[in-house]
Amino acid sequence: MTYGVFEPLLEERSYDVTEIDGTVPLDLRGALYRNGPGKWQVGTTLLDCLFDGDGMVSRFAFDQGRVSFRNRYLDTPQYRAKRRWRAGVGTSAGFPMPPANTANTSLSFHSGDLLALWEGGRPTRVDPDTLDTYGLHGFEGGLKGLGMWSAHPRFDPATGEMFNFGLRFAPTPGVHCYRVDRSGKLTRAASVRLKGIPWIHDFGLTERHMVFVLGPATPDVGRILRGDSALSALHYRPENPLRFLLVPRDGGPARIVEHDAAMATHITNAYEDGTDTVVEVVAYPDFTLLKEDILNFRDRAHQARPNSLTRYRITPSRVVEERLSEHACELPQFDQRASTRRHRYSYLSGSHAASGLFDAVLKVDHDTEEVTSRPLGDCVGEPVFVPRAPDSAEDDGWLLSVVYQEAGHRSGLAVLDARDLGLLATAWLPHHIPFGFHGLFTGRLPRT
Ligand SMILES: [Fe+2]
Repeated sequence: MTYGVFEPLLEERSYDVTEIDGTVPLDLRGALYRNGPGKWQVGTTLLDCLFDGDGMVSRFAFDQGRVSFRNRYLDTPQYRAKRRWRAGVGTSAGFPMPPANTANTSLSFHSGDLLALWEGGRPTRVDPDTLDTYGLHGFEGGLKGLGMWSAHPRFDPATGEMFNFGLRFAPTPGVHCYRVDRSGKLTRAASVRLKGIPWIHDFGLTERHMVFVLGPATPDVGRILRGDSALSALHYRPENPLRFLLVPRDGGPARIVEHDAAMATHITNAYEDGTDTVVEVVAYPDFTLLKEDILNFRDRAHQARPNSLTRYRITPSRVVEERLSEHACELPQFDQRASTRRHRYSYLSGSHAASGLFDAVLKVDHDTEEVTSRPLGDCVGEPVFVPRAPDSAEDDGWLLSVVYQEAGHRSGLAVLDARDLGLLATAWLPHHIPFGFHGLFTGRLPRT
């Protein structure tokens, strides 16, 4: 049996891409780094959870219309292991044990450091040229304890700061909030106590707040103590509310606002609008199906689950909810230069029809409420926006998305004009890239 885009890619390669349909824009210059699991096995043991595969960085470099490719695994203890010896996020070790840090979720590039991110522990520093693994990164001692560091840091273009969070379990459950200045110095902006241990994957950053969207999913601690994995023991309890946690960036008491139950995975962006705080999320009405897909990904993850891009407006007295698209979608992106401020356009991986596989790039215009889509293949990854020039208008640039073609079992890098979703070029690889999560673009060209 073959598993298509969920097959592993065991080889590490570096080469110039020779099969390019269309024309890569000459002024597209820099590198797209992507992260995701490259293989879901330790020794001969197959792992059933999508989130537990070994992190593998893929890099596409663009210069003068040419494209080069390189992939390397993160050199982690699990990657080096000859047999399974630790738990995973969704893989039980048979007894209580923290999951292995696979560094497989996303990347950040801030203050000169390229970091491979995973939310259950410290980030892993990577050489942006060779993709060699340097080891765990602790911000020169600033990241203490378990060092949990989410895979979704946010950036303030006005200050050059990076913000992020990490869960804490002791002495009480809560969330540590961090800010990192332009030089890479980390300080703790806040530490907020919470009732129970939440599952938080992402957050939004405004000019005044860090915005958390806490779905009513809580782990059954008894099951974890009996050896179940953290994800298996996570229970969705829709009888409990969705909670918004607003943490002031510059100090002051946090605010919690409750709303009807839903489960948020990813956040596009957040911003202030007068006295309101607005956050845009991918919201699921039923988290249980998604959880089972992740825990049994080879058999189940080929189907998109009902969800919707949703805007929550948190006013001083209530929460206003608005569905922005009927298309199943995930992995929302936007022009990062609009971070902390209102963005007009959202770009997502999604379904061309109202349901079905993620076979397209979606674009949502929040001024006109128009949703457009461009089908691109059998599995379409996160569309990363690259501005045409530093001072070009929002939406004036390209979208870069890894696409998978089942016939031929290969992947390519699609370059779209963000303005009309026109396909400009696809750089085809002679092999596939396993299903990945998140990435980034930098104008810095790699030296190798
Ligand atoms: Fe994510």
